[in-house]
Amino acid sequence: MTALDSLTSDLIAAVDAAADMTALEEARVAALGKKGRITALMGDMRTLSPEERKERGAQLNAVKEAVSQAIEARRSVLKQEALARRLEAERIDVTLPVRPEAQGRVHPITQTVEEVIAIFATMGFTVAEGPDIETDFHNFTALNIPPEHPARQMHDTFYLPPAADGAARVLRTHTSPVQIRTMLKQKPPIRIIAPGRTYRSDYDQTHTPMFHQVEALVIGEDIHMGHLKGTLLEFCRAFFQIDDLPVRFRPSFFPFTEPSAEIDIGCARKGGELKLGNFGDWLEIGGSGMVHPKVLENCGIDSTKYQGFAFGMGIERMAMLKYGIPDLRTFFEADLRWLKHYGFVPLDQPNLAQGLTR
Ligand code: PHE
Repeated sequence: MTALDSLTSDLIAAVDAAADMTALEEARVAALGKKGRITALMGDMRTLSPEERKERGAQLNAVKEAVSQAIEARRSVLKQEALARRLEAERIDVTLPVRPEAQGRVHPITQTVEEVIAIFATMGFTVAEGPDIETDFHNFTALNIPPEHPARQMHDTFYLPPAADGAARVLRTHTSPVQIRTMLKQKPPIRIIAPGRTYRSDYDQTHTPMFHQVEALVIGEDIHMGHLKGTLLEFCRAFFQIDDLPVRFRPSFFPFTEPSAEIDIGCARKGGELKLGNFGDWLEIGGSGMVHPKVLENCGIDSTKYQGFAFGMGIERMAMLKYGIPDLRTFFEADLRWLKHYGFVPLDQPNLAQGLTR
């Protein structure tokens, strides 16, 4: 091997050994730079005769060419490697789930209404609605609460200026006027629930001027109090998800039902804490009874042929009991921190509904 051959293979070996672009540049300068080995040999040719120089020049050019090619080859290998490393490091897995975005919450009232509807839907109830601004007739008179009836005082009614036709108007004090509206336009059999806003002039830890109730009305030829008890027992156990939750009916009075009963569920009160279940103590969650014959007649339904039951429950109280929310007033303060804590992620809803209909 000539000296030139061994120089060539040394230079190419240095190029091939370059681990990155910086090292490659160093190898290039060492061979072809101003003070590089090949450049020096080119300079040495000055001392040669023209013939020798021709031959030597051709040889040196061949070496230069070989080293340059090696440098280009090495450069492209290094480039490929760098690209491969980057692709590996910056790889995106498109199958990963997206990062959760800041998402709105479902208010506990909305959630509770959804749950109530889901449970009653399995029992064949449909949802009925009525206006928040009611006539005195639908809210009171048709429900067997005539103008001078003392029950009107108990409702702390918000009165509004009369309608254009002179009809006295109120903010509805309960959802029972939806019973009247339903019976006036629909013949039995009837099986509805009516969730919605209600209003009474009252404000403390357990009362807000606006709150929610859910009403139920079932009318048919052979509906009796057993159906009322069975429906409520089934509903309460499904809603609170307590299989042996005791439900009690306590004799009471409402002008629009006869007989009437308050609905109590079993609980325990210990050290300011409330626990639902079969513990011997009782908590009221609503009113109920068999629809008064006068109410049926007020709506043009033959009370000798048809009868039925109705009940009404407070949505907030049910939400407070189920989800451990201590103060009613916080429901309507529109505090986002509260909503974040007690609210529901929209995507949870289908799962929850499945859990309820287990
Ligand atoms: N409307 C009654 C109330 O708000 C509750 C109720 C509804 C009672 C239906 C009996 C039947 O107090």
